[in-house]
Amino acid sequence: MTQGRANIIKLPEIKLVDQYKRRLNYLRISVTDRCNMKCMYCMTHQKTSKLPCREILRYEEVLRIARIFINLGVSKIRITGGEPLVRKGICEFLSGLSGLGGLTDLSITTNGVFLKEKIKQIQSAGIRRLNISLDTLDKDKFKKISGIDAFSQVWESIMLALDMGFDPIKINVVALNGINDDELPDLARLSLSYPFHVRFIEYMPIGTSRMTFRQLLAPEIQDRISSIGRLDPVENISFDGPAKRFRFENAKGEIGFIRPISEHFCSSCNRLRLTASGNLKTCLLSEIETDLKGPLRKGYSDSELADIILKAVYNKPFEHPLVANHAGMISGCMSAIGG
Ligand code: 5AD
Ligand code: SF4
Repeated sequence: MTQGRANIIKLPEIKLVDQYKRRLNYLRISVTDRCNMKCMYCMTHQKTSKLPCREILRYEEVLRIARIFINLGVSKIRITGGEPLVRKGICEFLSGLSGLGGLTDLSITTNGVFLKEKIKQIQSAGIRRLNISLDTLDKDKFKKISGIDAFSQVWESIMLALDMGFDPIKINVVALNGINDDELPDLARLSLSYPFHVRFIEYMPIGTSRMTFRQLLAPEIQDRISSIGRLDPVENISFDGPAKRFRFENAKGEIGFIRPISEHFCSSCNRLRLTASGNLKTCLLSEIETDLKGPLRKGYSDSELADIILKAVYNKPFEHPLVANHAGMISGCMSAIGG
């Protein structure tokens, strides 16, 4: 099991270091650009964005690339999409990934719709941590935001994950002004009764999602939920990710703010991304991508692929363009990049 092994294995040295001395030990792997939802802040629903199957990395290709990253010092992997659970064979793939060893943390981000039917296999594959998107507690609004009527399925999945001992269960809420801002306190209250980490995410203007309205930034979100009680800071431990963490007094869970816009975390960023089409993205919001699939399919050796990766990582942009030039919109597609 991934987590158990963490105590006994000696982790490889982190060779993935960029020119600003940031150590990149966290890889997010998007296994598909497909999704069963059409969230208004995401691109998956746009038919034109679908990659042809041959352009998507096969599982054995992903496993090979993952192994190279682990040998270079990646110790934490998150599987994303689109929606990872729509891809056939995902549970076997997760077992394969877990079986590579060398990871202290293997987790998955899902919209929760197919989680219920796959959760046992996911647990058997060694996954202990889940991030589940839930932007509203209102059935109708759920449909309005995501395009499908699946609130109950997602809620049941969350409850099942809780019963089965997944820990932590992180609930991702993208804060949408005029859409779910009236529900922010109710969503935050989930952390009082359940051990969930409710994380409010600032909307990122990526691609051509249907969002044009004013952004709701973390300080305002914090202000809106402050009527619930005092928010005490929770200290971040290493590899914790960029969330600024808090806890309401006597709460079972936590509140987190992910602030790519109001307070970017570029200077301490430890993340790399592998897109569904096999490109390495060293910054979510940069347009620079390095093709790994091409060289891999041309027969490059592991060490040649490792060299390409090391070079791309060295050149990781210092900060994202929303910070550098305050651009309004970033091109690309969140569903293929994996968030
Ligand atoms: N801005 C912020 N968060 C986003 N997500 C998807 N698109 C955006 C966006 N434009 C989040 C979803 C999901 C995760 C995969 O990424 O909430 O939890
Ligand atoms: Fe699908 Fe996630 Fe995009 Fe929603 S945000 S459409 S669930 S990939």
